[in-house]
Amino acid sequence: MTGSSDLEAVRRELRGFVQVSAARAPLYATLALGLSQSDEGSSILAHAPATNRIAVTLFAAIQFLLLAEPDEPLAAWYPNLAVEPRRDDPTEAAREFCSRRRDDLIALVQSRTPQTNEIGRCAPLILALSAVERRYGRLAQLDVGASAGLNLLSDHYRYRFGETVIGDGPVELVCELRGEPIALPHRRPQVVSRIGLDREPIDLDDADQLRWLLACVWPDQADRRERLQAALELARRMHPVVRAGDAVDDLPVALGELGDGHPVVTTSWVLNYLPPQRRVEFVQALATWAGHRPLTWVSYESPAATPELDWPGAVAGSELTALRVVTWVDGGRQDRVVGQGHPHGYWLNLG
Ligand SMILES: C[S@@+](CC[C@H](N)C(=O)[O-])C[C@H]1O[C@@H](n2cnc3c(N)ncnc32)[C@H](O)[C@@H]1O
Repeated sequence: MTGSSDLEAVRRELRGFVQVSAARAPLYATLALGLSQSDEGSSILAHAPATNRIAVTLFAAIQFLLLAEPDEPLAAWYPNLAVEPRRDDPTEAAREFCSRRRDDLIALVQSRTPQTNEIGRCAPLILALSAVERRYGRLAQLDVGASAGLNLLSDHYRYRFGETVIGDGPVELVCELRGEPIALPHRRPQVVSRIGLDREPIDLDDADQLRWLLACVWPDQADRRERLQAALELARRMHPVVRAGDAVDDLPVALGELGDGHPVVTTSWVLNYLPPQRRVEFVQALATWAGHRPLTWVSYESPAATPELDWPGAVAGSELTALRVVTWVDGGRQDRVVGQGHPHGYWLNLG
């Protein structure tokens, strides 16, 4: 696509991103504004497939190149690449970079999808997993939409909920709990069997894929980048298994691969990527598998982005991320929303 109306749509997308990123990613806000006013960046993004024609695709492509070439002049504005990042306007440098690296950038936006594996979501998830473990015993976890498999290692991270610290290890996840107080678990839940399923798993031994994962983290967000890098190091030692496959079609086989333990399927910010009808089919596939055995589904998903998921009235349509626990047991179905929180797990409002 290269038409002038298409180009205008991309410029609008970049302008819209200024507001989205202003608070937590000032560099991207400035770049989005600067690049929305000329063609160098927008005409590159216009080559992305329609579903990826979003500002973060262009910024991930730019950062992907800069991570490999930190001596590029534009890198001087990136807080993760420069010792003393420049604070003046980066627009001219960004336009020059986009012009000179146009072919590389077009190839990237055409072929790659923004990809994240946000371990901050493990903080809300372990609260639910601990409750499931208390009730049904040790856990066998299938993480659907597992990406690099980092959320399969929730029992290896350290959690800080206010004054309470649970677990130990080099990766600390901080989550502020709001709303109704709960009795926090004394330890992390025990996961005795684990496997991931993703239509495009990240190969932990593939430097190029890891660079893309890091390129998708916004440069201003040092905390996210640092904990991601620490989790990736851990994962390279632990090697969580993530099978390539579809969330619906390959669910039964992946569940069948789990070993001992109460089977728990986890999903976090995955079901919004499925077409609406496939979301319904995903839940049907869970219910079918659970026909003759207990199964729990712990999800951290957006009700607004997945309206087909039959959300309880109080959270239906919510723009927050809902922590939900559904269990099929003895022919019945229990469904409970534990709380709602930040999409990256920085806080959770309970009750
Ligand atoms: C935004 S990432 C979230 C990853 C991880 N759950 C987390 O919380 O960080 C969404 C993941 O879902 C995967 N995905 C999207 N559609 C899928 C499908 N139909 N079947 C399996 N995985 C899918 C993507 O490849 C991607 O890894």
